[in-house]
Amino acid sequence: CSAGASGGDGGDKAPEDIIVGFAQVGAESGWRTANTKDVKRAFEDAGIELKFSDAQQKQENQIKAIRSYIQQGVDVIAFSPVVESGWDAVLQEAKDAGIPVILTDRAVDSEDESLYESFLGSDFVEEGNKAGEWLVEEYADSDDPVKIIQLEGTTGAAPAIDRAEGFAEIIKDESKFEIVASQTGDFTRAGGKQVTEALLKSNPDVDVIYSHNDDMGLGAIEAIEEAGLVPGEDIKIITVDAVKDGMQALADGKINFIVECNPLLGDQLVDLVKKVVAGEDIEKRVVTEETTFTQEEAKEALPDRQY
Ligand code: AHR
Repeated sequence: CSAGASGGDGGDKAPEDIIVGFAQVGAESGWRTANTKDVKRAFEDAGIELKFSDAQQKQENQIKAIRSYIQQGVDVIAFSPVVESGWDAVLQEAKDAGIPVILTDRAVDSEDESLYESFLGSDFVEEGNKAGEWLVEEYADSDDPVKIIQLEGTTGAAPAIDRAEGFAEIIKDESKFEIVASQTGDFTRAGGKQVTEALLKSNPDVDVIYSHNDDMGLGAIEAIEEAGLVPGEDIKIITVDAVKDGMQALADGKINFIVECNPLLGDQLVDLVKKVVAGEDIEKRVVTEETTFTQEEAKEALPDRQY
């Protein structure tokens, strides 16, 4: 793919002459806070000016921020789309203005891939696969029904869509697994708690909670404890992210398995920005490397966990 078509004028720009506009999703989770911190740190280290906006999980705010970056004539726009759909018009405006766009963390579903230069972030379907694989393994020796509650991320967001899809793909061949309820907790701790409270009432015999992120899983733990049950034992919990609070709950036995999603995208984003500004070719898709954690592995990893 070629970066040259759009952001072409900065071939010899020094880092201190580059201006980047970054439109963040919000501050909904520990993951997001770590991501924001890392992006700001990386641009500061690189000596590149970063204009930062927080959309408070609202697409219209992100669109406004992007339009304002276009008006200001920044060199590159980077953003983590809160939801997948509805970006074509504003991305076309950026393209018409000659400002290259880099997607970070979350994808858009635009069919016209020329609207952005690159997408840097996790493979969320793969994350859902890993969650499902652990579950299949965990219940390999039993034919009893396994009732699952799914706590979904923000409706319409790539990680919510893909983590649900990846998980379903793996468990679908074994009829003992049943998702008895699936609702959004909007990736927040409060959302996870509220949804779990309600769903435990209608599904008191649930065996497993699959949460699309740690924060909702941590909220679920509170709801489970308040219902007089033991998280990690009476109800097994699988989450995604592996932020410190999640890892602590895993080490404490309250979560059973975590699939890592890496928020430390700052240095890779800086690298892509520099290349785009220099008119170099960049990869259309850059996938971040990730692992998984059992309770024992969390105990080992916790002391060195950065976020
Ligand atoms: O897009 C990444 C997801 O967004 C993280 O898993 C979640 O915690 C965050 O809010």
